[in-house]
Formats: sequence, structure tokens, C-alpha cells
Amino acid sequence: MSSLVVLGAQWGDEGKGKMTDYLAKGADVIVRYQGGNNAGHTVVIGENEYKLHLIPSGILYSGKINIIGNGVVIDPKALIDEINYLKELKVEINNKKLFISDRAHVIMPYHRLMDALKEKWRGNKSIGTTGRGIGPCYTDKMERSGIRVCDLINDKVFKQRLKESLDLKNEIITKVFGGDALSFDEIYEEYSKYADFVRPFVVDTSVKIFNEMKDNKKVLFEGAQGTLLDIDYGTYPYVTSSNTIAGGVPSGAGIGPNKVTNIVGIAKAYTTRVGEGPFPTELLDDKGEWIRTKGKEYGVTTGRSRRCGWLDLVILKSSARISGLTSFAVTKIDTLAGLDKIKVCTAYMLDGNKIDYFPASLEDLSRCVPVYEEFEGWDESIENALSYDKIPENAKTYIKKIEEYTETNVSIVSVGPKRSQTIKINKL
Ligand code: GDP
Ligand code: IMO
Ligand code: MG
Repeated sequence: MSSLVVLGAQWGDEGKGKMTDYLAKGADVIVRYQGGNNAGHTVVIGENEYKLHLIPSGILYSGKINIIGNGVVIDPKALIDEINYLKELKVEINNKKLFISDRAHVIMPYHRLMDALKEKWRGNKSIGTTGRGIGPCYTDKMERSGIRVCDLINDKVFKQRLKESLDLKNEIITKVFGGDALSFDEIYEEYSKYADFVRPFVVDTSVKIFNEMKDNKKVLFEGAQGTLLDIDYGTYPYVTSSNTIAGGVPSGAGIGPNKVTNIVGIAKAYTTRVGEGPFPTELLDDKGEWIRTKGKEYGVTTGRSRRCGWLDLVILKSSARISGLTSFAVTKIDTLAGLDKIKVCTAYMLDGNKIDYFPASLEDLSRCVPVYEEFEGWDESIENALSYDKIPENAKTYIKKIEEYTETNVSIVSVGPKRSQTIKINKL
């Protein structure tokens, strides 16, 4: 048995989709274990680009099993739209290839509405969510009023759970937010159709993964978002509502922690963030704009511009510690070609003290001033490099610095969005 976790080491959009697709070649089963359709994972195969939100990136292969685990929140409409989108691109999807957990929670129309209402209510303190109802759905899960997939596909239970939930939600929507109440009949009718659609895909995915592992099948866990969006270790409250760190895998997939063997943290060669919240190495000048344009840093899910900044090694070191990373995959190093000098943050100055960890308090973080080390850039474009010896020396020095500082090997260097633009340099 061997398993591999692919997770984001920064604020998301590190290239998890690309790396999952690359690594899924050697896997039999690909599992999403947290998040929902707030994710936007891009995979480029030949001339085709695929944008995945909820379905594991392994779906693009034939003959592999794809699982949406219990820790994921599922918007059934988004799921159906994504299946139709993939079918139009000639990707085969059936219930031998895709499995959905009976324990996953369902995103309801009132979750999307509450997401929008709460963001508006927060005013200039808004989180900048993707508006997909993620936070409110996880809130209901923890508050024990959620509707799970097994409830959705049981008509009698669904009717009852929806009635109980909607009564209270409508009180909040109308009396707290002054919005319009949602109609039970409309939601019931709409979701009954979704229930019929998803029923054939539903299984106990924990049992399924366990049995596949027992048969010595290789399992790849595809994370969404990134370490600094984690509900416990991210820049709270500017985070998403799930555990994006490796600790989210056992609970979100229903496996024992000892079944996780290798964990690769995907790290962009610089840093980006979508949405609000602190970002110590953010570049608000034309350098930031240069990186955004060259790196095409615009969101897959909402189309928003991504904020850009220098690589922050304090973040990567924290990610390596929190998730027990066995290696890093460094992506988009090609984007940095053409810069004269490249800066890397190696510590923060906090009230006169040098620290190399990420503080919990946003108050403290706002007083942190990044300490930079400057590296020589390179002009040679890297996107056609097929082996490590074709990488410019200055880029190698940059990669070495990541390894030394984080005390973690870099296993893969990605030099472009395509499968072929990937160089394996160490074991995972
Ligand atoms: P994810 O959310 O972590 O899967 O990342 P996204 O798909 O949201 O964003 C990463 C973007 O960078 C996508 O458009 C990828 O096609 C692209 N990408 C991935 N790796 C590389 C790389 O090494 N170089 C370049 N230039 N683009 C890359
Ligand atoms: P992938 O998997 C980047 C951000 C949102 C917002 C915060 C909370 O593509 O890396 P939410 O809708 O989850 O309640 O929003 O989290 N966010 C992401 N940022 N990549 C993502 O996913 C993200 N998913 C959520 O922008 O700041
Ligand atoms: Mg993304």
C-alpha cells in the first residue's frame, strides 16, 4: 500500500490540479477530501485546458477511480454542471469511475444566500469568499443541522431535514438580514431531481478506499485551497472553512492517519492570494503587476485578480511542519525568468525581534516586517527545459535555498502548465 497527498503550501492556486494530474499517472484512486466547488484546479493536456472544481483531477484518465470523500461539501447543481461540462469535452464519467460519499454534506440554496448576506453584513471586513456557500454549509455540519448525501437520497428523511433546517434559516434570512424567505416546495422539487441524479454514485467511500488500499492500489489525495486558508492554521478569519492541511486527510477520507505515507506540498515559486486578509510579502507596485501578467494570475473560480508577492519561506517552513511534508513541488518557476533580482522572505521582524514562524494573531502579523534575501535572476526562459541540467544556475540556487531553509527536499520542479513541463529531481 502506498498513498500520496498533494496539498497547497500557500494560499491556494499553487498548481495542485496540474501536479495531481501529473502524479495521478502512477495512482489507481484519486480522492478529494475537503473543500467544495470553491476550488478551481486547472489541468492542461496537449492543447486542451480543463477546469475542475469538485471532481478529482484523476477523472481525466480512463480506468482510474475518483472519489469525493466525506469531508467535501457538495453543491449538487455544481456537480451536475461539472459532469456535463466534462462530458462535452469527451471525458467519460460513470458510476464505475466516480464515487460520492454518503456522509458528505450538501450545499443548499440557503447556504449560498447566507454566504452572500454575511459577506455584505461584514462590510469592509468581508472575507472575499468565493460565494459558493462553503462556510455556511460547514457551519451547519458542525452545528449538527446539515443535510448529508445519505439524507438527500432518502426522500422521507430529506423532506423532514429540509423542513427543520429551512424554518430556522428563513427566520434568520428575513428577520436578521431583511431578505426574502426561500420556498420549501421549490427547493424540495429541485433537490429531489438532484437526488435521483447522484444516487447511483453514492457509496460508503471510507470502505471503498480501505478495500482499494487492501488490494495494494495506490491512492492519491488531492487537496484544495492551501495551508494558509486552513481553518486552524490559516490567517483566521480570512480562511476557508475546512482543514486543508494533511491532518484533514484521515478525517475527510475516513482512513487511519498511518495510511498516509507521502505528502507533497505544492508551492508556487512566488506567492499569490485571492480574497481579503494579510499577505506580508505582497507587492503593490509594478513588480506585482509584472508577476500577475506574466503568471496569468487570475482566479479559475471567480475570475478575480490574484494578489502577488515574493516567495515567503516562513510560510513554506510552517507548511512543512504542520503537514509533515515529505517534499515540495515548486511550480511556475518559469514565470520568474526575466527578473533582474528576486527577493525571498526568510524571517519577519516583530517589535524588534526576528521570528521565523507564522504568528497566530493578525494583530501581530500586521506588525511583521519581512526580512528579505536577494537572489540574482535569470533571463533564459525555462519552459522548454526537460531536465534539471537545462535549468539556469541561478534558478537552481533559488531551489536549493527553499530546500535548505525548509529542511525539506524539492521533488518536482514545474516549468509550465503542461504535463510535459515537469522535472522530477528527487523522490516524493
Ligand atoms: P490549483 O488551484 O492549485 O490547482 O491552481 P490553479 O489551477 O488555480 O492555478 C494554477 C495556474 O497555473 C493554472 O492556470 C495552471 O495551468 C498554471 N500552472 C501550473 N503549473 C505551472 C507552471 O509550472 N508554470 C506555469 N507557467 N503555469 C503553471
Ligand atoms: P484552490 O483549490 C485560492 C479563498 C477565497 C477567500 C477564502 C474563503 O483553487 O486552490 P470560501 O469560499 O472558501 O469561503 O472563501 O478562501 N479560497 C481560495 N483561494 N484558491 C482556492 O482554491 C480557494 N478556495 C477558497 O478567495 O479568500
Ligand atoms: Mg485554483
